[in-house]
Amino acid sequence: MNLADEINKNSSLLGNDRNCKVWAIGGGKGGVGKSLVTANTSICLALMGYKVVTVDLDLGGANMHTCLGIPIPEKTLSDYISKKVSSIKDLVVPTPIKNLQIISGAQDDLGIANLKQMHKNKILSKLNELDADYVLLDLGAGTTYNTLDFFISADKGMLVILPEPTSIENTYRFIKSVYHRRLKMIEDLLDIQPLINQAMNSKISTPQSTPVDLIKRVIDINPTMGMKLQAEIAKFKPKIIMNQVRGQNDIDIGFSIQSVCKRYFGIDIDYAGYLDYDPAVWQSVKKRKPLLMEFPNSKLVNNFDKIVHKLIQMD
Ligand SMILES: Nc1ncnc2c1ncn2[C@@H]1O[C@H](COP(=O)(O)OP(=O)(O)O)[C@@H](O)[C@H]1O
Ligand SMILES: [Mg+2]
Repeated sequence: MNLADEINKNSSLLGNDRNCKVWAIGGGKGGVGKSLVTANTSICLALMGYKVVTVDLDLGGANMHTCLGIPIPEKTLSDYISKKVSSIKDLVVPTPIKNLQIISGAQDDLGIANLKQMHKNKILSKLNELDADYVLLDLGAGTTYNTLDFFISADKGMLVILPEPTSIENTYRFIKSVYHRRLKMIEDLLDIQPLINQAMNSKISTPQSTPVDLIKRVIDINPTMGMKLQAEIAKFKPKIIMNQVRGQNDIDIGFSIQSVCKRYFGIDIDYAGYLDYDPAVWQSVKKRKPLLMEFPNSKLVNNFDKIVHKLIQMD
């Protein structure tokens, strides 16, 4: 068993023995297009013949049912958490799209931050029981531990970004939070806290030091452990999607984010692709119909097709 499996096992963030692939869609900020990406990626996969279950984990702001064109399902994750429903399979509701089913988020005040560790682990471990090739998680905004853990536990973590300073800032904040949470898990597992502390407190350490500098210092002090640490860190490869793109400059922001993350964190970000700005999105939202079904000629159909094929290739 490799270290990633151990981490998953230790923290009950099961990832190693799933039958299905779990893709999580996040982003630091609300309104950037996470639900749009989740809904339409789910539809693409379903149209390709894969069995898909989309889970609305935007607890407190759940609206995936509307994005997929159905009314609020009778049973939601709240019923599972309050034990009114005993099996996660009983929450699965069909959508008008063949192969695509949904598990709805809470319709009460339950926020993701209030989800207890036990519930989070329960949800994660039971995803495997779903009859699905792909399970997509719509994460909602924010960087609470629960959101980060769902992101980390997924086989693929996607970040949706707008070409705006606030969204870019929030993206870095999200990546930084995930990075530190993962680093902490790896530290605990390898039992290398003293080594990390030593590296942090070394004389050459300055407030400007980056995580890349820190790992270098750990390698200097203890090459074996340092290399192990570096290898584990390198497995963190979030995917990014630029949304509401209006030109090449907007597309290029994705490449800049890639290079900043490489330089600062030493991690490789995969650029999954971009989505054009298209007023059809707004019209589809108003009609409460999924974009890909309602506007098959939208520019976004092509965009999603490219992104989904690329993501599948990255499996
Ligand atoms: N590519 C796009 N083109 C035009 N409008 C978009 C696009 N992506 C998102 N929007 C607009 O942004 C709104 C928020 O998107 P949504 O997916 O609900 O964000 P989030 O789930 O991140 O909060 C949508 O209702 C839509 O009006
Ligand atoms: Mg949303």
